[in-house]
Amino acid sequence: MKNIVVVGAQWGDEGKGKVVDILAPHFNIVARYQGGHNAGHTVRIGERKFILRLIPSGILHDECSCVIGNGVVVDPGAFNGEIEELRELGVECEGRLFISARAHLILPYHVALDRVREERLGANSVGTTMRGIGPAYEDKASRCGIRAGDLFYPDLLREKIRANIEEKNLELASIGAETVELDSSLDEFLAEALRLVPFIRDTAAMINTATRDGKSVLVEGAQGTMLDVDHGTYPFVTSSNATAGGAATGLGLPPRNITGALGIAKAYTTRVGGGPFPTELLDKHGAYLQKRGNEYGAVTGRPRRTGWFDAAVAGYAVMLNGFDALALTKLDVLDEFDEIKISTAYRCHGELLEGMPYGANVLAECEPVYETLPGWKANTSRTTNFDELPSAAKDYIRRVEELCGAPVALISTGPDRTETIIRNDSPVSAWMK
Ligand code: GDP
Ligand code: IMO
Ligand code: MG
Repeated sequence: MKNIVVVGAQWGDEGKGKVVDILAPHFNIVARYQGGHNAGHTVRIGERKFILRLIPSGILHDECSCVIGNGVVVDPGAFNGEIEELRELGVECEGRLFISARAHLILPYHVALDRVREERLGANSVGTTMRGIGPAYEDKASRCGIRAGDLFYPDLLREKIRANIEEKNLELASIGAETVELDSSLDEFLAEALRLVPFIRDTAAMINTATRDGKSVLVEGAQGTMLDVDHGTYPFVTSSNATAGGAATGLGLPPRNITGALGIAKAYTTRVGGGPFPTELLDKHGAYLQKRGNEYGAVTGRPRRTGWFDAAVAGYAVMLNGFDALALTKLDVLDEFDEIKISTAYRCHGELLEGMPYGANVLAECEPVYETLPGWKANTSRTTNFDELPSAAKDYIRRVEELCGAPVALISTGPDRTETIIRNDSPVSAWMK
């Protein structure tokens, strides 16, 4: 059995899309288990660039089937738009992309609420992607959500949505926000949503039958460990479990059948939106990382905050997800630095901390404890062989391994599929057999 989970080890945008695209040809199914179209996973193939938001990155490989699991929240308009975009790029989804009947749908009132709540938080806002993700998960937890499978029962569905709109409008009106127009909103939503019907299946049954028949599943995480609703920098997080455990509940894949986990980490750190970020660089080095790394959100275009590699973050991710290995991406972005810093731990009010402190408020008061390593001042982009890396780059990678407690099995040296080092005799090379 080979069912591997790919999880972001930082605050998202680590390069999951690229890594999933590399691994996908060695798997039968690629599945998403959480998040929604707040994700933006970029795959570069030569001159062509694909940004997958809701659809698993495996869709770019004809031989892969793709699943949007029950743990994902699906915006029908976004889904249909993505199918169209892929079609224009020559990728057909019909017959090999499936949505769980148990996946919750994002409705227009979720988007309205996301906006209003963020506005009201003012300076304390989370900086969400405004896609209605949080409010959709709220409804799931409070048992008034609309699920993809409800589309098979249109009369009941209309009734449920009507009741929800009335309820949400009370809330929107009470805070002086614009309410959602009942009939037009319902009609518009249904026109988009009913197009999902041919894709809807019992995907948990599909996946379990497939694994029983010897097929393999590559599980594609969205966001990252530090954005996990339980383990991340709460409340500056997304509203789902991005960590590996979410793969079991978000797909109906028994935990014992998850056979490996790969953490994706950038060779430095980025974050979009609000919340603490101990190694953030607000100086010329931060600006350089942003420019050289092209650190602008794939979904919202917002500039990403940038900083040095934080081994407390990545080590915490190794612990929570039980990573067999790490993939270290964007090594090439560090090529020009004279010196490179790694944060090994935090100090809070003079006290050296072990591990990750509780709560965003404490983390905001932490200072990183830096170790300085020499830069390699050489071009690593397009390198595909570990032995050909400059020795200072190899030392940097070895230090990351030591500090995080996991081997670095894959190194990415550029955005393209081909700009990748897979280390021999590593978990990744074994999964690619
Ligand atoms: P994801 O959300 O984790 O899939 O990551 P994103 O796609 O949002 O952000 C990663 C960005 O870095 C994308 O623009 C990728 O094309 C790019 N990228 C991935 N790996 C590398 C790399 O090794 N070097 C460089 N320079 N860019 C990379
Ligand atoms: P990928 O999969 C980076 C961040 C938002 C915000 C917080 C909550 O591409 O790595 P939400 O809209 O989810 O309620 O926003 O989470 N966020 C991401 N940051 N990459 C992502 O996805 C993200 N998805 C959400 O910026 O801070
Ligand atoms: Mg992204």
